[in-house]
Amino acid sequence: MKKSHNKVISGFGVLVVGVVLFFTYGKFFKKNSVVGAGVSTFAVSQAGESFESEKKVKERVTFPDNPYQDIIVNNRLVARGHGPNCAQRYAFIKALLSRFDRPITVLDIGAAYGYFSFRIAHDFDATCLMISDPKLERMSLAQLCALNNSLDKVSCIAKRINAKELEQLSQREHFDVVLALNVIHHFPKNQWKRAARAIVNLGNYVVIETPPEGDRTLGREFLGDIMKFVESKRHAKIAKIPRHTSPDKHATMYVVKGENSSKKFVSLPQGVSLTTFKLLNGVYPTSQMIKKSLAQLKENNYSFLSQDLFVQGKHIVSAVST
Ligand SMILES: C[S@@+](CC[C@H](N)C(=O)[O-])C[C@H]1O[C@@H](n2cnc3c(N)ncnc32)[C@H](O)[C@@H]1O
Repeated sequence: MKKSHNKVISGFGVLVVGVVLFFTYGKFFKKNSVVGAGVSTFAVSQAGESFESEKKVKERVTFPDNPYQDIIVNNRLVARGHGPNCAQRYAFIKALLSRFDRPITVLDIGAAYGYFSFRIAHDFDATCLMISDPKLERMSLAQLCALNNSLDKVSCIAKRINAKELEQLSQREHFDVVLALNVIHHFPKNQWKRAARAIVNLGNYVVIETPPEGDRTLGREFLGDIMKFVESKRHAKIAKIPRHTSPDKHATMYVVKGENSSKKFVSLPQGVSLTTFKLLNGVYPTSQMIKKSLAQLKENNYSFLSQDLFVQGKHIVSAVST
């Protein structure tokens, strides 16, 4: 009993330290006016629309036992994760996103069961693209995207991406915010630095969470080097997150100022180009959904040139009407 009480207190302490750090270092980022979004209650978002209840979804779908992340469907918790506390981590990310006063794009690398993108797409006007290694999860992210049918602007790529592909991606695409939570140490020893550099080039603000030195996880021999790499960039530490493996150890959550932030894609539709999506094994929207979207564009006389087509959540949009 005393032990769990202590855990609660230490969790609370971490939250307080994180909030203090956020406000101390937060000035380092340009303050955008705060969005009126940020409703985080577990309720259906679109007025007038109704979605299948959590109970019905659970009756119909088998969710993995004891997944790494909490699993959510239409902003309701359907399976509790055993990894680092998702809701606590999301609070820090939400505070960062609340600084934008316009629609944003998010790339979630190593998205697991999509917890962060699904919550972001629910709480903000955000277009979220997830990338995850399909072999490491016990439920497909495409299926979770389909189940989260209250959300329009979430898509996913099923791929174990390597450093070279991340570099190519950073030359073609750019996002307001990139999430790289507990993923850099999953890259092989001879690739993590290249991958990390590409990740920092992919967004204006890059949220990196990384386990501490001494953690008995993958890539344990370079955990200290990852922290040194991140701290060599323009960064702020925004939270210390208790590790699920040993709660007396903490991962650090950083926000790094992207190094290619001058890249401007403002005139293009939000999302990712259809070519990139296809090249990297995009799986949601499905091929069938893409066909349907393209047929609608054809009906409305929009350009079909590949450079004009973008995946924006579950839809294809064209930059140009013909
Ligand atoms: C430790 S989990 C972290 C999940 C999530 N980011 C979080 O912090 O809750 C690592 C995730 O990264 C994904 N992953 C690892 N290496 C990857 C790679 N090279 N390409 C894509 N996903 C990868 C795994 O599939 C898994 O979802």
